[in-house]
Amino acid sequence: MLRRLSEDQPEEFSFSNRNLKWAKAQLKKYPKGRQASAVIPLLWRAQEQEGWLSKPAIEFVANFLDMPYIRVLEVATFYFMFHLKPVGSKAHFQVCGTTPCMLRGSEALIDVCKSRINGKQHSLSADGTMSWEEVECLGGCANSPLVQVGSDYFEDLDKDSFEKLISDIEGDKSPVPGSRIGRFSSEPSNTTEKYGRRKLSNENASIERYRD
Ligand code: FES
Repeated sequence: MLRRLSEDQPEEFSFSNRNLKWAKAQLKKYPKGRQASAVIPLLWRAQEQEGWLSKPAIEFVANFLDMPYIRVLEVATFYFMFHLKPVGSKAHFQVCGTTPCMLRGSEALIDVCKSRINGKQHSLSADGTMSWEEVECLGGCANSPLVQVGSDYFEDLDKDSFEKLISDIEGDKSPVPGSRIGRFSSEPSNTTEKYGRRKLSNENASIERYRD
């Protein structure tokens, strides 16, 4: 899929003081002359600050890392994790539409996006709080179909659980990431039934990631 920068761009971008301090600390992780290796974390931090990745933000990161703009643009346009247009202020849903997710029902999730958010991907909902896009494999096929929001994965979804996820975010609730059928991680789903393992709660591998 061709990924282009937005036609509407802000005039400028710079890191907040906090992010600038963080970015300078990142550079110390890399040997002298290898600071370009920090390009992905810096672009990600710029996106977290701005909500999406604008052309001035890409230029800022290129200058900061002393890299040619085109090299940073190549990274930003290659990875789906970078949003090249403004996204919903509450959530941008990235729905995996690759074969394993498609076989497990991702088309129903896309229909929900079309009816609840906007008929066209990369377009904002009427109130500007939501947007969506179909992406390629998110690397969680064993828990398909799934949707990524920010750095969280919501897995084992179906139409109803996805509708609920959208409603929760609309209502400013903080939905728990992870499986919607009670799996802890990607163990066979009948393991959950057989051994009565942890049900959908604040107990799953996605939550543990934050605790560690
Ligand atoms: S196909 Fe959807 S996560 Fe791999």
